[in-house]
Amino acid sequence: MIKNNIIYNSFSDYQFEISKAQDSYIWDEKGNKLIDFTSGWNVVNLGWNNKEVNEAIVRQAKKNVYTSMWLADPIQEEYAKKLTASLPKSLNTVTREVSGVTANIMAIKTARAFTGKRKILSFRDTFHGSLYQTLQLGYSPEYPISKAIFLDFKDNIQLKYPRVNFEDKNEKEILSNFLREFEKILKTEKEIGAFITESGIITGWGSTFIAPRSYLTKVRELTNKYGVLLILDEVGTGFSRTGKLYGMNHENVVPDIVTFAKGIGNGATIAATVTTQEIAEKTFSKSNPQSTFGWSPLNVAGALKTLEIHLRDNVWEKAEKDGNYIMKTLREELKDVSYVEDINGLGMEIGVRLANGLKNFNMVRFIEKARSNGLHLANADSYSFQLMPPLTIERKVLDNGLEIFIKEIKSFF
Ligand SMILES: Cc1ncc(COP(=O)(O)O)c(C=O)c1O
Repeated sequence: MIKNNIIYNSFSDYQFEISKAQDSYIWDEKGNKLIDFTSGWNVVNLGWNNKEVNEAIVRQAKKNVYTSMWLADPIQEEYAKKLTASLPKSLNTVTREVSGVTANIMAIKTARAFTGKRKILSFRDTFHGSLYQTLQLGYSPEYPISKAIFLDFKDNIQLKYPRVNFEDKNEKEILSNFLREFEKILKTEKEIGAFITESGIITGWGSTFIAPRSYLTKVRELTNKYGVLLILDEVGTGFSRTGKLYGMNHENVVPDIVTFAKGIGNGATIAATVTTQEIAEKTFSKSNPQSTFGWSPLNVAGALKTLEIHLRDNVWEKAEKDGNYIMKTLREELKDVSYVEDINGLGMEIGVRLANGLKNFNMVRFIEKARSNGLHLANADSYSFQLMPPLTIERKVLDNGLEIFIKEIKSFF
């Protein structure tokens, strides 16, 4: 769709104009107040227009808004220190990125430059950003879009995600089957430089699949064993979304490279690729970490305040508690609804999956109807919802949103 000179794609199709947004509410162009269950897709984890974050940006705007790539503003160095201090000790060097996609491409370039190997192992039907190198990680070669834009996949090997549903009793079997296939590929394919994965849950497109417990630990063991770098894409899992500050903290796994964006700045547009000093020293002259707009001081001010709030308020604890509450409520309320197949999640990243191919169900119509009743929702695909309320949402507002959602699901037929 093209509307008011802007091109929207079919997935992120134009829905409505925001006239105001604050905390867990957004108002549409007609002034209707909506409870938000999207956080703008894991961006405004601390609520829309968080006052502290926005004030930090305004303060910085009065000092300096831009730094070229060969200069540094003191706030960038302060942020680099704080960000790396919040991570495992070895992850101590960072490149100044602008979005999730550039952070992931930087990670791939770094892994290739370090290992001298070109192939990247990833999961099919996942999303790591919308440029060629990242689309090739998750798109299937069969998709019309892959053919239309000539994605070649020659440096990519894709695996099937080891997904666990809430009531699965065979979690261990799912993991061991996956690990068998994973190790076979690592053993036979000699040209793999890195494996890229989200930290135990898919938060981007194709979500909200949960991996079995110990998934991260085991893939770390095997990537170490075969000298393949582990890249964690924490663009969606980072900044308390899954009930820990970072997804990797669930199993205390230390990757070789980790990428951040989305919730990093609560709306301030910045991203980061973090790696070890050893990897950075051996690669930076080849991987070309260069960006005109990377880490504009304005956005760094937003990211710095965002990180300070997460650390000050232990935001992840509330995310874990409220996430469990949401899942418990939905599982109880929807247990007799035959077309609800799975409710599963991690922290406040929750998927509600309806029966695939459910007759007469139209996701767009469903979302529009929920909106007309006061709830703003996001879908992961044609039959599943992805619930991602701001982590700071008040319990009363959360309950009101859940009530609308449950009513809509129950009254669908
Ligand atoms: C897991 C994941 N990685 C990377 C990206 C790309 O981030 P950006 O849109 O900031 O380039 C996304 C975006 O949805 C994502 O969900």
